[in-house]
Amino acid sequence: MSIASPPVPAPAADPGTTPDIEALQRHFDDTIAAEHRIEPRDWMPDGYRRTLVRQIAQHAHSEIIGMQPEGDWLLSAPSLRRKAILLAKVQDEAGHGLYLYSAAETLGADRADLTDKLIEGRQKYSSIFNYPTLSYADVGVIGWLVDGAAICNQVPLCRSSYGPYARAMIRICKEESFHQRQGYELLLTMMRGTDEQRAMVQDAVDRWWWPSLMMFGPPDAESPNTAQSMAWGIKRHTNDELRQRYVDMTVPQAEFLGVTLPDPELSLDPETGRHRFGAIDWSELKRVISGEGAMNRLRLARRRAARDDNAWVTEAATAYAEKHAAEKRA
Ligand SMILES: [Fe+2]
Ligand SMILES: [Fe+2]
Repeated sequence: MSIASPPVPAPAADPGTTPDIEALQRHFDDTIAAEHRIEPRDWMPDGYRRTLVRQIAQHAHSEIIGMQPEGDWLLSAPSLRRKAILLAKVQDEAGHGLYLYSAAETLGADRADLTDKLIEGRQKYSSIFNYPTLSYADVGVIGWLVDGAAICNQVPLCRSSYGPYARAMIRICKEESFHQRQGYELLLTMMRGTDEQRAMVQDAVDRWWWPSLMMFGPPDAESPNTAQSMAWGIKRHTNDELRQRYVDMTVPQAEFLGVTLPDPELSLDPETGRHRFGAIDWSELKRVISGEGAMNRLRLARRRAARDDNAWVTEAATAYAEKHAAEKRA
């Protein structure tokens, strides 16, 4: 896997002359074709930049909003050990958001502007975080299924053509595998507990299974941006390919855990070695994305309050940074 910058420098225009766009485009195409990385200093087509900003911002927002469903259980975790694990996990998600906002900034995006767009509903975040966490078993199931789906989605992004995004994803994926393991370990513990605990786990699996399948996005036939994103090396696999990989990975884990995935049509195809699964209710995804999920309003209201109530911290930190920069210049 190469995540190095292109070895051949981009054709530079002499100052005062018009850049040769065709030569720059050729160099960009060659860089992508050679599986080298595009770096912030490189010329890139506007559409590539726009697509990346949209995708990275949506990803960053998902990490930050994704702190809320599990964060709701921080004060009710059943032991000090569970609380420490959950706290570390939720803090990791904050860190993921920060890496990704930094990656978006290398493309010229402004972090405060991205936050405003999120709060005003002009940019999206993963619809999975608009479901409520009704029991402590949800913490385990989110780690297992939601972080598990995130890993399937994100491991190929470590080879994304944009350098800062690919490098952020390498770090994020290492932490996501810890998240998935802590969730699975929590569920194994509950499944070895009482009947009531086992019922809690099964109930949580019943509620999160289908939304986790929707995390891969609409079916390929209805995903108009996929082809261009794959041609640009931003995306490496289609939504349906990743969803299939996730199902194949998760079914044996469910069997080992002793839970039933809520899909009567789930079966192993002996010829392909892959699992067939039932039809996904896409109207639910559309409804939740358009703001009608159980938690959409609360998630954004909290994010808005975090921005507004803590504005003084941002102001103080900005003033401090400016003062030190001025001292350095002097
Ligand atoms: Fe994350
Ligand atoms: Fe995570």
